[in-house]
Amino acid sequence: MADSAEVPNGGSTANHISGDAQFVVVANRLPVDKEVLPDGSVHWKRSPGGLVTALEPILRQQTGAWVGWSGIADSDDNPDIPGVEIHAVPLSAQEIAEYYEGFSNATLWPLYHDVIVKPEYHREWWNTYVEVNRRFAEAAAKAAGPGATVWVQDYQLQLVPKMLRMLRPDLKIGFFLHIPFPPVELFMQNPWRTEIVEGLLGADLIGFHLPGGAQNFLYLARRLAGQATSKGTVGVRSRFGVVQVGFRTVRVGAFPISIDSGELDRKARSKEVRKRAAEIRKELGNPKTILLGVDRLDYTKGIDVRLKAVSELLAEKRIDPAETVMVQLATPSRERVDSYVKMRAGIEQLVGNINGSYSSVGQPVVEYLHRPIPRDDLIAFFVAADVMLVTPMRDGMNLVAKEYVACRSDLGGALVLSEFTGAAAELRSAYQANPYDLEGVKDAIEEAVHQNAHEGRRRMRALRRQVLTHDVTKWAQSFLGTLAATTETASDANRGVHLVESNEQPTDGPDA
Ligand code: ADP
Ligand code: G6P
Repeated sequence: MADSAEVPNGGSTANHISGDAQFVVVANRLPVDKEVLPDGSVHWKRSPGGLVTALEPILRQQTGAWVGWSGIADSDDNPDIPGVEIHAVPLSAQEIAEYYEGFSNATLWPLYHDVIVKPEYHREWWNTYVEVNRRFAEAAAKAAGPGATVWVQDYQLQLVPKMLRMLRPDLKIGFFLHIPFPPVELFMQNPWRTEIVEGLLGADLIGFHLPGGAQNFLYLARRLAGQATSKGTVGVRSRFGVVQVGFRTVRVGAFPISIDSGELDRKARSKEVRKRAAEIRKELGNPKTILLGVDRLDYTKGIDVRLKAVSELLAEKRIDPAETVMVQLATPSRERVDSYVKMRAGIEQLVGNINGSYSSVGQPVVEYLHRPIPRDDLIAFFVAADVMLVTPMRDGMNLVAKEYVACRSDLGGALVLSEFTGAAAELRSAYQANPYDLEGVKDAIEEAVHQNAHEGRRRMRALRRQVLTHDVTKWAQSFLGTLAATTETASDANRGVHLVESNEQPTDGPDA
């Protein structure tokens, strides 16, 4: 049946082993994004988003293979990346429209982010999602050597764990969700909710950022995957972070992701970055206060919220346009999805309104760049910024907040942080605010702008302690260590993983 996530019979294990990689990452995107320049030449650039930021240093430390899509239609080129064996999964233009822009980013993305925009449910998008997930599972099955560890990533590939297990029962399969796992009431909207839960349960270990997400999943596993089906009853018992699926044991836990904080700290201390940071301040007209936003241009990020807050603070003369510059760096993202097109227009209008009302000639109050910024320049912006504005309506983690902190060895700067990011659970010393409460956001920004140096250092020291001691290597070790320790029985003690009691009520509020 076309709507089913079942893998057809006939895929025997032996037929699918042809690779020898002992560690395989499977993600929608490859670590690099293919660009064909006007002269026809091919250029590979860093892929957008936090998933690649986090996993790229892990694959540098541990040789292995990466299965993913190059970012453009009908391309199976494998870029050359030292130490990583690349397996490109080609997608047609129609698959990009239905699997990537459609089911992944116009159905699942808004559904998992508190339905900030309305998720769309289309059967043809779902069918293509199933087909493309099958293709990724087959590519992973081919890349993995006998008994290898395969780590499947994120919401675009939630059916892969089950499909891959059917092709290759010899593998250890982990799954990590990089975005929030939604409250039960929202997840239940999805017409294909059972297939998705069953798809994930193909993994030996399923990781979320926060305990609340893991708890929601455990509740749903019991409620959905244990239902009687036309093929008989699937026995699913879930408790203490463990789901028993027939004879198989699936572990479920919270693993808050992080960044390569040591590397950022080192780079931010370098002479070149310091010099560039001073140049940036000068180029901005040596303002007293630089406010900074760094995001993919996404409606979840609350870029409009911070612009409205700054606009009202200027109108109320609580910040001075002669002394303040706000820099918003926004990487283009998902530019053919309707909600992104609308959001971009709204943000650019807000930028225009603020500049129209408060800028003087040659000195705009808001500097807005709609393009990716080279990494070293970005670090210099972090070093230069007095106040970092991270105001998502909902975000699984938000690595930008951690990157800013890692770059502030001078203990300068202040972080304004939405309560609805995963990072808020760890970064308690930030100026936290509810992004739906505009007055609260304004107060947090004003407090951060006017903080005294002693208070600023105290807060930044506490933030840095957290970020520098919990880096991405620790995250990966914790996940992979727990995965390696999984066996057919649930009896061994978990290591370093925060498991949750599934009999508790599922959460439907902020995960923190
Ligand atoms: P998401 O994964 O939703 O995009 P994160 O904050 O977790 O959000 O990760 C975003 C990553 O992309 C970070 O590593 C950040 O530095 C990078 N990034 C965001 N905006 C830009 C930009 N304008 N230019 C370059 N890199 C960016
Ligand atoms: C988030 C998602 C990633 C995704 C990234 C960039 O970080 O969790 O899976 O790759 O955004 O989005 P894009 O749609 O450009 O891949």
